[in-house]
Amino acid sequence: MVPGRVSAGDARGGGARDDDARRDAAADVGARAAALIEPYKRRTWELVGAGPGRRLLDVGCGGGADTLQLAQHVGVEGLVAGVDPDRAALDAARRRAVAAGLATRTLHATADAAYLPFVDDAFDGARCDRVVQHLTDAPAAVAELRRTTRPGGRVVLAESDHGSFSLHVRDRAAAARLGEHLFARHLVDAWAGRRLRGLLLAGGLHDVAAEAHPLVITDVALFRAVVDWDGNRGRLLDDGVAGEGELRALEDELAELDAAGAFWCSLLVVVASGVVPGTAP
Ligand SMILES: C[S@@+](CC[C@H](N)C(=O)[O-])C[C@H]1O[C@@H](n2cnc3c(N)ncnc32)[C@H](O)[C@@H]1O
Repeated sequence: MVPGRVSAGDARGGGARDDDARRDAAADVGARAAALIEPYKRRTWELVGAGPGRRLLDVGCGGGADTLQLAQHVGVEGLVAGVDPDRAALDAARRRAVAAGLATRTLHATADAAYLPFVDDAFDGARCDRVVQHLTDAPAAVAELRRTTRPGGRVVLAESDHGSFSLHVRDRAAAARLGEHLFARHLVDAWAGRRLRGLLLAGGLHDVAAEAHPLVITDVALFRAVVDWDGNRGRLLDDGVAGEGELRALEDELAELDAAGAFWCSLLVVVASGVVPGTAP
């Protein structure tokens, strides 16, 4: 919708216009959610050495958001492999690769981070983004990332640290409880971000470095989308984390802060990397 211009949709009934407005709002929030995480993702692409002719690995690639971006960087001479245990996500990644004309330089395969189906030194660099938080044996995954990356190549890990979740509300204990429950209940380690440096050092990587990237949300619509508020609200009630009255009061407070332009939520994402030791071939 373009403000100040009459569109064809305006000649239709109110219901159709409401649907259009809802779709526009959802698209806007989706675009802003992608923009929120793009800076740290770009940093991982840079660290992993994305460039023409490179062979890169993305472990826990999901629907291929990063494999397709990396495929643009490696060009026709390069290759990007993505692995994930989720077959439906991999099918989506393959479809997107075909649609984007990138199928010949991408490979999406079913695998667990602890057992990668590649020979030693197969890649020039490897990344693993928001996956460690799901793993019961993160050191095994780091060992596999190291094994499949050639000497001199870089292994890059990125992970949220949900212990850094900050929400500006009067009841700080309730905010901490909500944050803990929203993220921790389906993750093996919601605080994985702060472990990444240690994992890489313990895995024998050299030149280990880490940095924090803040995600800052200053409006309620984006907050609700990013934390899947509507999906999680019922679970917060069912699990006894908060009562209906408490949630309504919180939602009212967040709406007031939003209207006053004072809404604040932040979270840190840690990006850590290390170089595989040995002599490059
Ligand atoms: C939060 S998503 C991140 C997806 C993608 N890396 C991104 O940043 O958009 C977590 C991903 O980790 C994958 N995952 C979970 N357990 C895994 C395992 N043991 N080995 C590899 N990937 C795993 C999930 O299937 C999911 O695609």
